[in-house]
Amino acid sequence: MTPQGDARFATEEYLRHIMLDYRQMTDFVKEPFLVARADGIRFWDVHGKEYLDGLAGIFVVNVGYNNPRMLEAVRRQLETLPFNPPMHGTNPRAVELATLLAEITPGDLNTARLVSSGSEATEAAFKMARQYHRQTGNPGKYKILSRYLSYHGATGSAMSAGGVGYRKTLYEPAGVGFLHTYPPYCYRCPYEKTYPSCEVFCARTIRSMIEWEDPRSIAAIIVEPISNTGGIITPPMEYLGILRQLCDEHDILLIFDEIITGFGRTGSLFAANTFDVVPDILCCGKGMSSGYAPLAAALVRDRVAATFWGAPGTEFAHGHTYAGNPVSCAAGLASIREILERGLAENARRVGAHLVTRLEGLRSLGIIGDIRGKGLLIGVEFVKDPATKQQFAPGINLGLRIGKRAMHHGLLLRFDPHWIAFGPPLIVTEQEIDTMVDILERSIREVLREL
Ligand SMILES: Cc1ncc(COP(=O)(O)O)c(C=O)c1O
Repeated sequence: MTPQGDARFATEEYLRHIMLDYRQMTDFVKEPFLVARADGIRFWDVHGKEYLDGLAGIFVVNVGYNNPRMLEAVRRQLETLPFNPPMHGTNPRAVELATLLAEITPGDLNTARLVSSGSEATEAAFKMARQYHRQTGNPGKYKILSRYLSYHGATGSAMSAGGVGYRKTLYEPAGVGFLHTYPPYCYRCPYEKTYPSCEVFCARTIRSMIEWEDPRSIAAIIVEPISNTGGIITPPMEYLGILRQLCDEHDILLIFDEIITGFGRTGSLFAANTFDVVPDILCCGKGMSSGYAPLAAALVRDRVAATFWGAPGTEFAHGHTYAGNPVSCAAGLASIREILERGLAENARRVGAHLVTRLEGLRSLGIIGDIRGKGLLIGVEFVKDPATKQQFAPGINLGLRIGKRAMHHGLLLRFDPHWIAFGPPLIVTEQEIDTMVDILERSIREVLREL
């Protein structure tokens, strides 16, 4: 029988017309996944199957779906002003949002460059960093230092800063001046050291890199305080402080990519609060509008912003049609106020601790190597042998199989061959986490029986 309603779009006849991210469409059409509606922490696909969203879409829907405050804010803004001429000016909601961001961010991150996506935020940050150095008498500073296993977006410079080879190879040569160092992946230290006796060598060794490259050529270091790619790679508490010090010594701008970690995800409003380090530029997106409209930003400290405020020609030569869009900004204001007023960062910390306790209880299954992350950004790395950290053979794809099985049982997680991750809406309760972990446990048991 031919599917009716929205279900008909989950057929090859229609899917031939669309190209999805990181997905071979000939595989996708065999098992299409089209979400039709959502409420709270749940969504339903076009066939009516219900799912618990253990991933907030993709670390986005921090306030949950169908939130009345969000709906009202977006509806009111659509009726009042859906768009303003961006080349000639801005709108009140954009200025209100920039002002609120200045209030809630740590330190003097007081100026916002509003954009529509995380990739645009990191692109803007790189351009600003280079322009800042040109405007402060250091025109030779252009290199951007980032880390392997990082992700900063899909566009040109964002891709070049990214640290996963296979996401770049097809499109290289990448941008000029992008350098990479090893991430603080303590569970499998790339330097084969052990924390804390390593004294955070992975951060300290960046000093040599800066010196060998020549500090006069380095504009910025960009890091995700906790990175998703690689399995929620979480640095020791001292790591970001060491980077801050290195940047200060060499007049290098420190950029935090908080596109996932911002707006409560790690148990504080920003990971900059969680780790008590203020960057020079903070890129954010995702939970900023909780996905009710596209919104992101690069937030800039006063001493950087000051160099763009003054002489003609020092303005930021950059433009996006949808930057500071009034509907997106109204969604951002409502999402941030909801996060603040409902204490969702605190909820992330409390419920996240419960999630970790529940995951610790799964160690008896014999395949859990590491549980890491902060707040409601938690990863689990699977291993064949926890004593030796030996991984499963590449073809086993245990994490993928567990993640797919969890989806079969109605739970959305982030999954990869060797790990899975949780990043649910920040409104999630301990009881809902219990249900999610029960589904995960059942999925693991079923997959292990099939090995
Ligand atoms: C850490 C990080 N930076 C940048 C981006 C790019 O954001 P967007 O997909 O909104 O362009 C992402 C997206 O997942 C991300 O996770």
